Parts: sequence; C-alpha cells; structure tokens
Amino acid sequence: MHNIDLHIRPGERVAVVGPTGAGKSSLIKLLNRTYEPQQGRILLDGVAIQHLALADLRRLVGMVQQETFLFAGTIADNISLGDPLITRARVQEAARETGAMAFINPLPQGLDTPLMERGTNLSAGQRQLLGITRVLACSPRILVMDEATSSVDTPSERLIQEAVERLLDRRTAVVIAHRLSTILHADRIIVLSAGRIVAEGRHAELLRQEGLYARLYALQFQGG
Ligand SMILES: Nc1ncnc2c1ncn2[C@@H]1O[C@H](COP(=O)(O)OP(=O)(O)OP(=O)(O)O)[C@@H](O)[C@H]1O
Ligand SMILES: [Mg+2]
Repeated sequence: MHNIDLHIRPGERVAVVGPTGAGKSSLIKLLNRTYEPQQGRILLDGVAIQHLALADLRRLVGMVQQETFLFAGTIADNISLGDPLITRARVQEAARETGAMAFINPLPQGLDTPLMERGTNLSAGQRQLLGITRVLACSPRILVMDEATSSVDTPSERLIQEAVERLLDRRTAVVIAHRLSTILHADRIIVLSAGRIVAEGRHAELLRQEGLYARLYALQFQGG
C-alpha cells in the first residue's frame, strides 16, 4: 500500500473496488491488525489501533471474510467462538436476525448440531450465513467485509443479501465489493490500483470519469 490517506466518518459505508492484486484485502486486513503497517498510522476515534488490546480491537472491528472458517464443533460454538461474552441467548438472537435460524431450527439438534471440519456438511450459502451471524453476535461498531465471490443459488443469494443489510445497518462499513448492490448503495467508492487509491466518489460520478472504475464496472458488475 502506498500513500493511503483515508478518512471514514462514523456510519459511512465505503465500498472498495480494484483489479485482482490491487490491495483490497490487504487494506481491510490492516484495519483489524491482521497485517501491521510498516509506515503510517491508523486511528480509530483518534486512538492509534496498535494501542488497543487486540481482543478489544477485534470486537470493535468485525471482519467477514470471503470464506468462513468453520471448525469441527457445534453450530453454536462456531458462532460464539468460545467468547464468554457471547451467551447462548446472544447466539440465538444473532442467528434469528441473520435468518440463519431458518436452516438451523429444522436440524434435529438445532444449534447443537456438530459441524464437520470446514463445515462441509453445510451448503456454501449456509456457511456464509454462519460467518455473518458470527460477526453480528459481536455487534461490532465497524464492519469490514470481503464479499464472497463464490456463486450461490438465487434464493440463498437473497437471504445472504438481507443478512448483510442487517449487519451493515447503522454501522460504519468498509466492504470489498463484488455485488452490484454494494457499489450502488455505497456512500463512497474507493478505487484501488497497485496499492494506491486512484479515484474515489459515488458510482455515477466515477462512471462519468471513464477511467479504471468505468472499465471495472463494465467487466465485474454490469448485468451481474
Ligand atoms: N502477507 C503478504 N505478504 C506479501 N505480499 C502480500 C501479502 N498479502 C498480499 N500480498 C500481495 O499484495 C498484493 C495485494 O494483495 P491483496 O490480497 O490485497 O489483493 P486484492 O486486491 O485483495 O486481490 P483479489 O481481488 O485477487 O482478492 C498482491 O500482489 C499480493 O501478492
Ligand atoms: Mg482479495
């Protein structure tokens, strides 16, 4: 990353786009200290994030990855990750809120259903819903998300979109956009190329510039 100068206001929804290898995932990994910056600083309400305890930072900045990491354990454990602050009631509430309960409830053991390593006994859409539920259960003030590219069928796609909307509601969010709706609803779109911000603005104004954004839009989002 080079010369990144980004100020995100509370409640703002920022979408990040750019060609493969541009640094989109790296940018959001810097925000929850998956990566540490070699230069420069990242402030959260004026506090440098390296001065926060990692556990506190990760509760403030929830991260939804492209692929949800699921382990051999119950669905409830996979949502709470063993965090004592995330009670059974909170797990249930979060699963209801994201709509994950719709597939969990009919299972004979419900939330206590054991998952196989990597959640291979679930569909791709169900794994994504659990990933979203896991983050919602922490109720982070800030959300960073690498939208999944893996195609799921249209009904699950709609469920996931609704779950994501609930997660984004009233939160500050930085989302690596793969969906058309994400760029259309963003307050601001950041265009990354080779580790630099090369353009930013809303969809219509970026499109008018007929630059990298317009090309990416034609390739990745139009009709998709
Ligand atoms: N931990 C790392 N160490 C060294 N280089 C890395 C590391 N992570 C990513 N990179 C490199 O940084 C560049 C940006 O990678 P990044 O994963 O952020 O791209 P991206 O924009 O998310 O791409 P994609 O659209 O394919 O997901 C790439 O050249 C990648 O090889
Ligand atoms: Mg990436």
